[in-house]
Amino acid sequence: MALDVVLGLQWGDEGKGKIVDVLAGRYPAVARFQGGPNAGHSLHFEGKSFVLRSIPSGIFRKDAINIVGNGVVLDPITFKQECENIEKTGVPVRDRIVIAKKAHLILPTHRLLDAANEAAMGKGKIGSTLKGIGPTYTDKVSRNGLRVGDILAGNFLERYASLKNKHVRQLQQMDFKCNPDAEEAAFMEAVGYLKQFRLVDCEYFVNQELKTKSILAEGAQGSMLDIDYGSYPFVTSSSTACAGACIGLGVAPSKIGHVYGIFKAYCTRVGSGPFPTELFDGTGDRLREIGHEFGAVTGRPRRTGWLDLVALKYAVMLSGVTDLIMMKSDCLDSFETIKVCTSYKVDGQETDQVPFDTYAHIEPVYTEFKGWNTDLTWCRKESELPEEFRNYIGFMENYLGVPIRIISLGPDRDATIMR
Ligand code: IMO
Ligand code: MG
Repeated sequence: MALDVVLGLQWGDEGKGKIVDVLAGRYPAVARFQGGPNAGHSLHFEGKSFVLRSIPSGIFRKDAINIVGNGVVLDPITFKQECENIEKTGVPVRDRIVIAKKAHLILPTHRLLDAANEAAMGKGKIGSTLKGIGPTYTDKVSRNGLRVGDILAGNFLERYASLKNKHVRQLQQMDFKCNPDAEEAAFMEAVGYLKQFRLVDCEYFVNQELKTKSILAEGAQGSMLDIDYGSYPFVTSSSTACAGACIGLGVAPSKIGHVYGIFKAYCTRVGSGPFPTELFDGTGDRLREIGHEFGAVTGRPRRTGWLDLVALKYAVMLSGVTDLIMMKSDCLDSFETIKVCTSYKVDGQETDQVPFDTYAHIEPVYTEFKGWNTDLTWCRKESELPEEFRNYIGFMENYLGVPIRIISLGPDRDATIMR
C-alpha cells in the first residue's frame, strides 16, 4: 500500500488540519513526519473546534492510528496539555497514538535558546514561534540531542542534566536573562506521562503497517518555509517538502502514492521574510479580516497578499504534487477583481522562477480575473459553482499542470467539494 502525503505549498496555515481530518476518514493511519508544536492545525466539526500542535489530525477518527514520526521534534509539556485537552472530550488518545523513539525531545532550555537567538538578531529576527524548534533540530544535527526513546534509559536524568547545562552556558554567554529551572518539574512530569504511550521503532512500525494499509502523512508548515528550498534564512528547521516524509518516517520514496498539495486562494505569511505579493493596503486588511488570518499558535496577525502562482508552481515541482486542494476560495466572494501573480520582475528582469536571493527586489506581475460576487459557502456540487469561478480555477490548473481535486469553501468538514 502507499504512503500518501498532504503538504502545505505556501508559508504554512493553508488549512492542512481540515483536509487531513476530511481525508482521514479514508486512511486507517495518519502520521506527522516533521516540525513540532510550531504547527497549529485547526479542525472544526459538529460545532467543536480544536487546534492540534503535535498530534496528527486523524485523532478524532475512530480506529485511526496516529503516528508521531522520528522527524518530529516533540515537546512533552505541550504534548501532555494537548492530549489532556482532547481526552476530556472522551477520545482515548493513549490508544490512538504511537510515538517514534527516534523523535527528538524539545527541552525547556531549547525554548529559552530560541528566544535568546531571536533577541540577539534584533531587527533581522526570523519571527520564530519560539517553541524551541530551531535549537532542537540544531542539537539533532550536531549530534547532541535527546530522543524520546532515551527517556526509558537508566541514565536519562544525567543526560538531560548534561544537555541542560550546555544550554545554560550558551544562555549565559548570550547574556540572556531567564530562569532555566522554571519548567523543569513540568517537563519531568510530562516525560512520565509520555511513558504511558506506545513508543515504537517508527521505521519498522510504518513499513509493517504499509503492508496492509495506506497511511496519510501530514506535513506541517509549508514548502516556502522548507530548510533547503524556502526563503532561507526565513524558514523553519525541517524538510517540509514531500521528501521529508520519507526521511521523517523511514519510508522509501518508491512507497509514495498521492501527493496532495494544499494552497489558499490567496497568500499569508507569519514572521519575517520575503513575500512578493504582500498587500499593505485596505485589500490586505480585508483579506485578513474575512479570512480570520491570525495565528492559531501565537495569535499574531498574518501578513496577507494575492495568490503567488510562481511560488506555487515551484512548490508543486519540489514535491511532485499529484492532486491540488484549494482552500478558502469563499474568502474572495466579495472582491470585484481578483489578482494572481503569474511572473516576477527581479531587478527589472521578468522570470517565472523563484530567485536565489532572498533580499532581491521582486515585483509581482499580475493576471486579473473578474470576481464572481456570489456566496460560495453554500455550494456543495461542482455544477453550483459560478462560471467566473470555474474560469479562475481552470486558469490555475493550466498554469500549474495539476488538477484541483478538492475545493474547500468553509472551515467545516461538510463545506468541501470533491472533484
Ligand atoms: P502550520 O503547520 C505558519 C513560521 C514562523 C517563522 C518561521 C520559523 O500551522 O502551517 P519556527 O518556530 O519554525 O522556528 O519559525 O516559520 N512558522 C509557521 N508559519 N504556519 C506554521 O505551521 C508555522 N510554523 C512555523 O512564523 O516565520
Ligand atoms: Mg499555523
